[in-house]
Amino acid sequence: MTVKMSARHVSAYYGDLRALDDVSIDIDTQHVTALIGPSGCGKSTLLRLLNRMNDAVPGARVEGSIELDGQDIHARDMDVVELRARVGMVFQKPNPFPKSIYDNVAYGPRIHGLARGRGELDAVVETSLRRAGLWDEVKDRLDDRGTALSGGQQQRLCIARALAVDPEVILMDEPCSALDPIATARIEELIGALRGRYAIAIVTHNMQQAARVSQRTAFFYAGRLVEYGDTSDIFTNPRATSTKDYITGRYG
Ligand SMILES: Nc1ncnc2c1ncn2[C@@H]1O[C@H](COP(=O)(O)OP(=O)(O)OP(=O)(O)O)[C@@H](O)[C@H]1O
Ligand SMILES: [Mg+2]
Repeated sequence: MTVKMSARHVSAYYGDLRALDDVSIDIDTQHVTALIGPSGCGKSTLLRLLNRMNDAVPGARVEGSIELDGQDIHARDMDVVELRARVGMVFQKPNPFPKSIYDNVAYGPRIHGLARGRGELDAVVETSLRRAGLWDEVKDRLDDRGTALSGGQQQRLCIARALAVDPEVILMDEPCSALDPIATARIEELIGALRGRYAIAIVTHNMQQAARVSQRTAFFYAGRLVEYGDTSDIFTNPRATSTKDYITGRYG
């Protein structure tokens, strides 16, 4: 198993508030990692640290080390724009740009100079939409606005947009919480299809979803990583009382 991203002794602060406390975790390409735990336990903070989105938050700081392919993401020579292309993010609420479907997907390849000429760009757009499971639904309406799609389609468009810059890691923060069960099932299927090609970490409040889509589960509580292991073990045989209480719905 090759580790793609590795966090070691990571603590994160917003001013005086410690949102993450000495967290060490690896994510890899072979397994989908689910991040679970009650509201406010630091799941989104961890995701945002992994592609340095927290850099923009006033008063936020981080301790410890985070590596991508063994390279320190806080190193002086790390290009943050490139990091965010390598480590893509999909949010809770689908957030397509107010542009055409085509331009939503072409945006990243354009700014990163990943395609030479229209033919190559067309190919990247098509491949990304196919991988996101959206091509058949939009291939005849690529000039329509992304915002005109259904919520589930918009979320797949956002996934296509992330895939278009050829990322290595995809971070998903509750990607289905604004979607109906059918759209949710499509995203879950998609996650299964993307596994192996991309290292995927997904935050979810839905225990059934974590059990369905992930092979590894990390349970967080009050900023600490309580346990991390095979999803089946965490769900059938949790070691910590807090994990057991959470997955059986005692709080959360
Ligand atoms: N921009 C911010 N400024 C100040 N405090 C923040 C900020 N973002 C998060 N926090 C605090 O950090 C802690 C962890 O928040 P985080 O959003 O990471 O939790 P979470 O596990 O994603 O919760 P949820 O399940 O509700 O999304 C919380 O106490 C939260 O109030
Ligand atoms: Mg969150």
